[in-house]
Amino acid sequence: MRQIVTTANGGVEVLKVQEAPNPTPAKGEVVVQVKAAGLNFADILARQGLYPDGPKKPCVMGYEVAGVVEAVGEGVDPQLANKPVVAMTRFRGQAEKVAIAANQLFAKPESLSYEQAAAIPVNYLTAYALLEVMGSLHAGESVLIHNAGGGVGLAAIDIAKQIGATTFGTASPVKHKFLRERGLDNPIDYRNQDWLPVLKQITAGRGVDLVIDPIGGSHWKKSYAALRHTGRLGMFGVSTASANGLQGKLKMIKAAAQMPRFHPIGLLNKNRGVFGLNLGHMWHEPEKVAAWMKVILDGVSEGWVRPHVDKAFPFAQAGEAHSYMEARKNIGKVVLVP
Ligand SMILES: NC(=O)c1ccc[n+]([C@@H]2O[C@H](COP(=O)([O-])OP(=O)(O)OC[C@H]3O[C@@H](n4cnc5c(N)ncnc54)[C@H](OP(=O)(O)O)[C@@H]3O)[C@@H](O)[C@H]2O)c1
Repeated sequence: MRQIVTTANGGVEVLKVQEAPNPTPAKGEVVVQVKAAGLNFADILARQGLYPDGPKKPCVMGYEVAGVVEAVGEGVDPQLANKPVVAMTRFRGQAEKVAIAANQLFAKPESLSYEQAAAIPVNYLTAYALLEVMGSLHAGESVLIHNAGGGVGLAAIDIAKQIGATTFGTASPVKHKFLRERGLDNPIDYRNQDWLPVLKQITAGRGVDLVIDPIGGSHWKKSYAALRHTGRLGMFGVSTASANGLQGKLKMIKAAAQMPRFHPIGLLNKNRGVFGLNLGHMWHEPEKVAAWMKVILDGVSEGWVRPHVDKAFPFAQAGEAHSYMEARKNIGKVVLVP
């Protein structure tokens, strides 16, 4: 089988499609024949050598796939064979075949293509955990979604609309028309202006009830300043450090140095909450994740979960797929197809 190997830290030239032996399912596992694999920002940071959770190189990245169950291991329901599925993968998803623990597997909604199904797990689980589980967003509240036009961003808009919250979102201006059509109430251009005074102006100086921030570094301080009383800040990424080579390492050091320190007394007097989320550290909580996934997959049939695939790149063009995201061109999800 073919797989996309990140051969070393570096630019897109380190991505190579290589042959590997077919996997066989261990006890409790299935092998999925992959029809589409999600590309996530973490894959880019891993390639750049800036993702501490990534496997040692050479490695095959990929946190999610949609495909068909090809083989079933001992202790797994044999009726799963030949079933269309969507799955979380702890790496190795960007391959023609992948062995996965059966508890990371869900039935693919019939109404979705394989590419749309592969766009669900990471983006929607992350957004669900941020907004619903940890952010406790309620009807009538307001949320600021940074990078609203990205994969997690679009998922967060769907979930916030379903909750009945007012949505604010930062994004490159070329994405605003599409974001309005998706239901974002207030798109804000953060590339050509300072977004905080704009947000304060639209909210009559108050700010919002929840901010979700994947940019990191000093940006978390700014997002904290955007909260009204009883507001919460969810921190879940450091995309500000994204760059190849030494520049990336220096940017990561700068981001770490500029991160805010939250004092309990400050939180108490300002009635604010802060939290962090790393979906990649939830593998030991499969029941929680499965319960979230059930709500999300039910949301597909109810019509409020609308995975949007911007572009599907063949495995051979994995480098172009990375470059497309790094150049901020994607609206919603980028997927890789064998
Ligand atoms: N902690 C977790 O569990 C978790 C899970 C999933 C994702 N994440 C994080 O969430 C963020 C979004 O992930 P995603 O996979 O959905 O990606 P994405 O948002 O679909 O793609 C990247 C988008 O982010 C924006 N962006 C901001 N800074 C950027 C930079 N320095 N370089 C390139 N693009 C930049 C761009 O949009 P505009 O500039 O147009 O806004 C770009 O289109 C990432 O930081 C990722 O690491 C965290």
